[in-house]
Parts: sequence; structure tokens; C-alpha cells
Amino acid sequence: LVLVIDFGGQYNQLIARRVRECNVYCEVIPNSYSIDEIKNKNPKGIIFTGGPSSVYEENAPTISKEIFELGIPVLGICYGAQLTAHLLGGSVKKGDKREYGKTKIHYKDSMLFYGIEKENICWMSHTDAIYEIPEGFEITAYTDDCPIAAMENKEKNLYAVQFHPEVEHTNDGFKVIENFLVNICNLKGTWTTKSFIDESIEYIRKKVGDKKVLCALSGGVDSSVAAVLVHKAIGDNLTCMFVDHGLLRKNEGDEVESIFKDTFNMNLIRINAKDRFLDRLKGVVDPEQKRKIIGEEFIRVFEEESKKIGKIDYLVQGTIYPDVIESGGDKGTASVIKSHHNVGGLPEDIDFEIIEPLRKLFKDEVRKVGLELGIPKDLIFRHPFPGPGLGIRVLGEVTDEKLEILKEADYIYRQELKKAGLDKEIWQAFAVLPDVKTVGVMGDERTYSYLIGLRAISSSDGMTGDWYRIPYDVLEKISIRIVNEVPNVNRVVYDITSKPPSTIEWE
Ligand code: XMP
Repeated sequence: LVLVIDFGGQYNQLIARRVRECNVYCEVIPNSYSIDEIKNKNPKGIIFTGGPSSVYEENAPTISKEIFELGIPVLGICYGAQLTAHLLGGSVKKGDKREYGKTKIHYKDSMLFYGIEKENICWMSHTDAIYEIPEGFEITAYTDDCPIAAMENKEKNLYAVQFHPEVEHTNDGFKVIENFLVNICNLKGTWTTKSFIDESIEYIRKKVGDKKVLCALSGGVDSSVAAVLVHKAIGDNLTCMFVDHGLLRKNEGDEVESIFKDTFNMNLIRINAKDRFLDRLKGVVDPEQKRKIIGEEFIRVFEEESKKIGKIDYLVQGTIYPDVIESGGDKGTASVIKSHHNVGGLPEDIDFEIIEPLRKLFKDEVRKVGLELGIPKDLIFRHPFPGPGLGIRVLGEVTDEKLEILKEADYIYRQELKKAGLDKEIWQAFAVLPDVKTVGVMGDERTYSYLIGLRAISSSDGMTGDWYRIPYDVLEKISIRIVNEVPNVNRVVYDITSKPPSTIEWE
């Protein structure tokens, strides 16, 4: 285990992912952890992340100096490097110049830079800099503007780099991290998808025994992978419940049912609750109100139906590691119950325990596990899809008629993107149905029908995004097909706004 101690930098999760790419298991923890808590985790290496503060300011995030006396190798990155210097008696000051972007660097002989070109390029992003190194340290890299770009105390296994080895713009940056793990921490890299699956199965079997487990399936990646993993461990003691709110995309409900029932032979109860949802949505136009109703109704159906299947001891949730990090890290089992509820806000008085088999994994790792478990690629790489589904893509009041129109148009759109080979490049693509009719002419006849909006976004996390430049000929094909094949639609528009200022969804 390697501990990545979080000082608030923007690349913290990236550092953790790089470590895991070396097949070394790591966890990200807040800097508020005590030395005892850190020792209890028995790490073989520690990495301090970057962060936006200045080490010499009052209330800047810090850590006890004892950490350097544990005999565990430490690598400080950016703020983490400055903190190491500051705590051990060196000096850190605001630099004359801000160093930002790709920067030429010169490495000296060091285990950390083993096998790496001496004259190289790194990614810098700092204003403060180390001015004097602590006793026992030597300088191991410099740039034109930063005479102390890396330093180390070989004897105590303490290393510090001002640049960011975790970002791709640092040539050989990943090798720096690998050198730290392999050459300095002596880690072997045994943490793989396969070992994760084997260990999880063993853990779940031990924990659950022959008790009853329930899983709410949504057809999304996380809940699907969690369910299949738990099924591998305990077989028919797992019941999956799939509440189909009727707001899924065309054929999606049947696909979910077929994958889990036919491919994996799992116990799946599908509840077709479309009428209930549409009933509650009647006359409602406000997006937030719609979200609330769909969320509440989901829980109500889930509760009612789960009562029918008798006593349940555990509930599976598809919580993944970024949620865990955001809610303050994993202090062990005590925090399990308080964690994110993926089902969409469970009631307070639930009387089952939660199991979250993916709570240690990043999204790309969840996908790898899913593929290894044999879940179809289409499901594993499907675009993100909001919980309220088409309920917020039929703008204004949701009716059966409008839902059907949207499902058809959306299906054609996504089908054509796939044919053109664009679906993998696009982060999220979907159609929306505004509550608007426009005039058209078909044959000799004037029409007055709905219009369809198309959205395609490139993004890495959905927080920001750019509209995707779909080639005109592909757009043309989509537009022609939608107007010809979907009754009651006579116009197609393409959304060319980014996020911000727009959001990805229209509601
Ligand atoms: P926005 O529209 O806020 O969307 O730019 C960002 C990402 O979040 C998804 N989204 C939702 N997901 N429940 C969800 O589970 C929701 O109510 C919801 N609203 C937006 C959206 O699809 C995009 O991926």
C-alpha cells in the first residue's frame, strides 16, 4: 500500500491513478490523518501531493514532522516538496517569477531519475519555490528559473520534486513515479484487475456468508459491475432489482434484462413502473421538480418491492473511489454506512448493511474489472446517462407520446454516430425534445410539428465540455433520417454551445 496524502492539489487523483497503473495499490487520504492512523495503514511508501497554499502562511495544510522518522520513503510533489523543505529546516519563498507549463529540466544522478534522459522536459506550475535545502539533502534537478527543482536525502529515503511527474506533459514523468515505487519503496506491482476480483470475491463470501443480498440495477456501469462481482461471489443469494421507470432509451430496459438474466443467469426482478412515474409527472414542467419526483418515486417503488422479497441483510451499492475521496477518504469500516448513496438517497431508517465492492476503484478500473468479468463492451463504455433519464430530456411536461418521439430520434442519432465511428470519441451524445412546435412543409402540405435538438459533448469528467464538431455530412444524414422516420418531427437543430456557459443537459 502507498498513501497519497492530499494537500488540495488539482492532480491528486491523477497521482493515485499513476501509482495504480504501476499495479501498486494506493489510497488518497486527507492531510488531517494522525501519524497513528497513517502507521496503522502500514504503508510502504508515502506521496505528498501538490496544493494551492503557501507553506509559510498561517493555517496552511501541514503534517507532523514525525512522518519523516517512520522509515517509510516519502516523495513530495510541488507543494509536497516545499512542505518537506519547510518542515525539515530548509526555506521556501515566493519566487521572482511564476514557472508554468512545459519547462526544460536537467536531472542529476538519482535513483528517482534512473533510466531517464538527463536533459528533459517537465511540467511546472508554481510561484513559491525552495530556496534552501534542509540538512542532509542534495539537489538533484534544476531548471533555468528554479535552481532546486528536485532534492533528496538518500539515507532517509526522502525525495521531493517541484515539477509534476503525474501529468502527461512531463516526459518520463510516469517513470519517475515508477522509480519511486519500484527502486525506492521496493514494491513489486502485484495489484491487478484479476487480483482485485479474486480478493473481492473472497472478501464478499466471508462477509456475507449465506445471507441475502439485494442490488438495485440501473443499467449503468457501476451498478452492473458491482452486481456481477457480487454474483460471482455468492450466486443466487443475490437478488437484483431493476426498477424500469420507462424513462430509459429505446430498447435499454430489455437489454439490461437480457444481459443479467440470460448472459449471467442472475436473479433479476424487473419492475415496469412507467405508468406510476408518468402519472406522478403529469402536469409537472419544472426540471428540479421532475428530478425530485423521479428520485422519490424510485425509492418508493424500490422500498415497496424489496419488502415483497422477504428479509434482506445487505444492499449492494456501486460507489466508486472518487466519491469516497470526496467524502473524506476511507477510515475503515466505520465510514461505510455514511457514504454516498448511489440508489439516489435512501431513507434514513434502512435496516440492511451496505456493501460497496467498488469503493476502491477509479472509473477506468471499474471498466477493466467489468470487461474481465465478461460484461459486454457496449454496456461498459456506454455514455453517462442521468438518473432521471429521458424525464429531463423531454422538456416541459413528460407524456407518453413525447417520450416515444424522443426515444426514436435519440436512437437514430446514436446509431448514426456509431456507424460513423464517432461514439467513442464523444463523451456524451443525446437528443432532446423541446416543448415547441415549428412550421414545416412536407410534399405540398404545411406541417406544424415538434423539433429535435441534438447534443454531443467532448469532456473528460462532465464538469466542463466543448460541443463536438460532428462532420456536416453525418449531421445531414441524421437530420434526414429523423424527419423521415420519426412521426411528428419536422425540424432538427444542433446545439453549438459549450459548458460553461450552458450545461450538458437542457434541463
Ligand atoms: P450538466 O447538465 O449539469 O450535466 O452539465 C453534467 C453531467 O451530469 C449528468 N446529469 C445528471 N446525472 N442525475 C444524474 O444522475 C441528474 O439529475 C443529472 N443531471 C445531469 C449529465 O447527463 C452530465 O453527464
